[in-house]
Parts: sequence; C-alpha cells; structure tokens
Amino acid sequence: MSESTRVHNFCAGPCTLPVPVLEEIRDELLDFHGTGMSIIEASHRASAYDAVHMSALADFRLLADVPDDFVILFLQGGASLQFAQVPMNLLADGETAGYVNTGTWGKKALGDALRVSPVYEAWSDATGAFDHMPASEEIEIRDGSRYIHLTSNETIGGIRFAELPTLRVPTVVDMSSDFLSRPINWSAHDLVYGGAQKNLGPAGLAVVVVRRDRLSHHGRSLASYLDYTTHEASNSMANTPPMFAIYVMGKVLRWMRAEGGLGIFENRAAERSSLVYNAVDESNGWYTCPVDEASRSLMNIVFRLPTEELEKRFVAEADQAGMVNLEGHRSVGGIRASVYNALPLASVHTLIDFMEQFRSANS
Ligand SMILES: Cc1ncc(COP(=O)(O)O)c(C=O)c1O
Repeated sequence: MSESTRVHNFCAGPCTLPVPVLEEIRDELLDFHGTGMSIIEASHRASAYDAVHMSALADFRLLADVPDDFVILFLQGGASLQFAQVPMNLLADGETAGYVNTGTWGKKALGDALRVSPVYEAWSDATGAFDHMPASEEIEIRDGSRYIHLTSNETIGGIRFAELPTLRVPTVVDMSSDFLSRPINWSAHDLVYGGAQKNLGPAGLAVVVVRRDRLSHHGRSLASYLDYTTHEASNSMANTPPMFAIYVMGKVLRWMRAEGGLGIFENRAAERSSLVYNAVDESNGWYTCPVDEASRSLMNIVFRLPTEELEKRFVAEADQAGMVNLEGHRSVGGIRASVYNALPLASVHTLIDFMEQFRSANS
C-alpha cells in the first residue's frame, strides 16, 4: 500500500487509521500467524483469537491507565446502545441521574435514557446555539442523582469540555469522539464509553469502562446481552464478539503505545487543531468559527465561509485536491474538519495551505 495514493481523510467517523496498522492487517489477511487463515475466519474460541482479544483488553488498560477496580467491556450496538444500556445497568427502579444536553449527542443520550428511567436534563444551552459547554456550577444535581451524564466532545457541534467538570456525584461520559485523545481522570467517573470508529478502529465496537462495584446494582430483569455482568463474567466473549473490529483496535492501541501514549496524542491534538483554528482566526473574518473559543473541539473543527455557495465550492475543490469529507454535518452545514489521532500532520498542513489559497482566490 503506497501512502501517496491515500487521500487526506477528514471524516467524522469512521475515519482514517494509521497506515502501519493497515499494512499489518493486509500482511496478515491470508494467513494470520501461520494459522493458514485470516483472523476473521477463525473461531472466536480458537487460541489465535483469544490471544488477540486478551491483548486488546490489556493494551486498552495500559494505554488508558484504567485502574483495577474498573472493568473493560467490548460490546456491539455502537455508542448509541449505551444511551439505554447505561441507565439500565446503573440505575435501579425509581433512581435518577442528570443528563447534560450539550448538543446532538447529549440530547440523544437523554432521549434514550428517558425511555428506561426517570432521568432529567441537568443543563441545556438556553440560547439554542449549543456553541459552548457549561461550567460545573451550572449543572443541576438533584437529590438522589446516581450520576451525571456528559458528552466530552460534541462531534457535530464541534465543542468539547476543555476540562471535564468534577462534580459531587460521579460522572458517566460519552467519549466517542475524543476517546483516548487525552488522559482520563478515572476518580471522577463511574463509567465512560465510546464507539471505536473514530480514534480507535473500525465501526462495530463500543468500549465501556465501568467501575466494578457499580455492576449488579440495578435489580432489573435484563436480557442477558444487555446486562454488563454477562460480559464482565466472560471477558466480553459471552457471544461472538466483533472480532475484526477488536483485532484492528488492538493494533491501533499498540501503535498508540509505541508512539508514546496518551500524553503524546494530547499534544498532537493541540498542534493539529491550533493550526486549523489559527488559519480561521487569521483570515480577518473570512473564515469564522461559530463556537465559543474556550469550548472549541480539538477533534472536530467547524467553521463557516462567507456564503453557502462558497462552502459548496470549498468542499468540492478540496475533494478534487485529495481532501475528503470536509462537509459539515447535514443538520448544521458549514465545514467540519475532523482531525482524529491517526490523521497525519501533513494532512492538516495540506488543508491550511488550501484554505489560504481558496481565500485569496475568492475574496
Ligand atoms: C459523541 C457521539 N456519541 C455517540 C455517537 C453514536 O455512535 P454510534 O454510531 O457508534 O452509535 C456518536 C457518533 O458519531 C458520537 O459522535
């Protein structure tokens, strides 16, 4: 696989993966470690797959520094299933939790949780702009709340918590779009979760990390797949796991460890995103960023051009120049450049050079 034929992929997810990981997968596809078959043709009960699975669990724990009193689960259903599965497992009948509505994903999490338990909205952007994250003291914590649910990074709105709030009750955090892009302060959380298809690997896998003593509390009669204890008891192999996604994620985790760990990825995210935000800020108002500066996402950078017509041309011409998936989400329009962990810095430089050229040609 030649790197030169690859596009600069700014997709919000699934998204670009590290080339060395893709090359390893290619090399192992016909014969995984002398088994005479690929890993996706193996039985999930075979020792070859068992080793892949257990290493992925161990590497996640090492890379994210997950304490021993947390359990790591590999599940299906995406992050979306967690919107319901979290309250099913963490709230007993009649218990409540607060949901912070910071945009599309915070709202969806609240909507599905409400189908399961009498949870409440702990904050919402009263202006309707959803262009900033709340301060800790703005989050309502009602008596009896077992947790407060947060979305660390709103993928569509392009905002993130620069620091996750530390509250007087534990937090549960949807980290889908900035998972493992910075270290995690485990002491604040009861549970964190995310879909793998942005920073960690292909679609089809959600990772849930939950404090062990929060399991078995719900007292509900849940279908076995929906009960976290089913997966805890079997190292997430109670049924056929999403083997390919776990295999690829395992390679991404090892690549991240070899690159230097989460501190390195935090620095790279700051570098990548500040290059693009500087290009916006230094354009004398030609490019504009619609979100509050303190809440700017380091993963999903949203910006606007003077007209929608120019935005369409920007996306089309960027595409022709090998920069793909720059269109903003259909619900908000504009431009969105997603700059996840595996995006090479060269892609960001190509983008900011293009932004400069496009502006001079059109202003
Ligand atoms: C922050 C956030 N939460 C949840 C989801 C839903 O993830 P999934 O498609 O894995 O269900 C997404 C998807 O983009 C997301 O960005």
